[in-house]
Amino acid sequence: MTQHKGLDRRSFLRNTGWTALVAGAAANTPLAAAPFDLAETAQAPAGTFDFDTPYNRLGTDSIKYDQPNRTYGKGSVEVGMGIADMDFRAAPSITKALQERLQHENWGYLDTPASFAEGIIAWNKKKYNVDIKPGELIVTMGVHPGLIATLKAFSPVGSKVLLQTPTYNGFYGDLTASRTISQEVLLKRVNGKFEMDFDAFDAAIGPETYAFILCNPQNPTGNCWSEADLMKIGEICLKRGVLVMADEIHCDFAMKGQKYTPFANLPDKKIVNNSITYKAASKSFGLAAHKTAWFHSTNPELLAKVRVHHRAEMNTLGIVANQAAYAGGEEWLRQCVNYIDGNHDFAVDYIKKNLPLVKAYKAEGTYLMWLDMTGLAEKIDAKGRADKFNREKAANVAARKPEQMIEEWLVRNAKVHLNSGASYGKGSDNHMRMNIATSRKTLEKALSNMASAMRAGTTSMAQG
Ligand SMILES: Cc1ncc(COP(=O)(O)O)c(C=O)c1O
Repeated sequence: MTQHKGLDRRSFLRNTGWTALVAGAAANTPLAAAPFDLAETAQAPAGTFDFDTPYNRLGTDSIKYDQPNRTYGKGSVEVGMGIADMDFRAAPSITKALQERLQHENWGYLDTPASFAEGIIAWNKKKYNVDIKPGELIVTMGVHPGLIATLKAFSPVGSKVLLQTPTYNGFYGDLTASRTISQEVLLKRVNGKFEMDFDAFDAAIGPETYAFILCNPQNPTGNCWSEADLMKIGEICLKRGVLVMADEIHCDFAMKGQKYTPFANLPDKKIVNNSITYKAASKSFGLAAHKTAWFHSTNPELLAKVRVHHRAEMNTLGIVANQAAYAGGEEWLRQCVNYIDGNHDFAVDYIKKNLPLVKAYKAEGTYLMWLDMTGLAEKIDAKGRADKFNREKAANVAARKPEQMIEEWLVRNAKVHLNSGASYGKGSDNHMRMNIATSRKTLEKALSNMASAMRAGTTSMAQG
């Protein structure tokens, strides 16, 4: 093991029994007839990166694939479409930099190099014309630690934090960690499109409201908020003394014809000075487990207050990977976003044609789809199932919502795992979040599994 140069995944998968398990699980289902190639490599034409060959993550302790298989039982899930990471092989610049660093076999404390911040600043300037001065940037170990430190600095214990729902479920954990409470404001649905409800937002602000977590592009609806939206919400927050915490971690995923507008670039300096922005390369380059992110603000007083509650000691491989992503990954990312855009089109079209119990629209940004599964929920009586579960469960077992019954139904009947809308706040009834950052083949496999299950299930929905 001491000579181990990297993860020998083939033997790792063999040793953990996952290859047999995948094959066995596939053989046991009639859906296995669909071609599903688990090959790990393929030749892409020169100058292009291969997002198209399914990249097998089973047996690597991934939350997306391995966790639902642990929850529901070995072999239950063929396609993980939950947590927001990507199923692609990393950009070559990242792997190369990590391999080089591994040659030096010492992992003592890291003095984060200045070049790391310089790379972030250069990237933001080049891609989005955001000017970040070195003193305006704080490096952190994930967006969550930055959000939590900020909440501790600005939102006293027991105070309310504005969230526009449905919203990223992880924010609720940040509120728990800072002992604050959510003040949910529903996004409006106008002609099928989510919009901010400015009046409701304004009305929700009380004497106990000090902070608002903005999500742009929005997880899970995919909205890319316009400059006008951001100005209006920014004005309200400034007027009412509410800090804007702009989580822009999904910024690199604006789909064709859509635009990500950085809060820091708004044309009103006072509004910008009332904000802190949180970002990372982790979504963009598939580096989530490297635990590396940053936040920035043009207002030094805000940052000084957050610093009191913030402690970050960066890990070496995270810094190496992130630097390499920005230094050499731009073209990889361009192709990746393009591929995801194609996945969005493919999935919306497939769902419209083959999954009549599901309503989908093309997201403006992110690699997430927010699916209305009311049709399926009614067919399988998700509410009745949840009620029954809650009546019969032991006292120490958590109560379930209908969306969790949909999640389980999809695992049991389609071998696909999606995130249940239950944890995304108000307005998430009968919704599921589907992550489509995967090869088209894998996406097609998941959708065809779901279509077959729903077709078969129309006669026997009570089962499973
Ligand atoms: C909107 C949003 N913020 C934050 C995070 C998590 O960020 P990190 O892993 O850097 O803590 C996610 C992950 O899905 C996210 O979607």
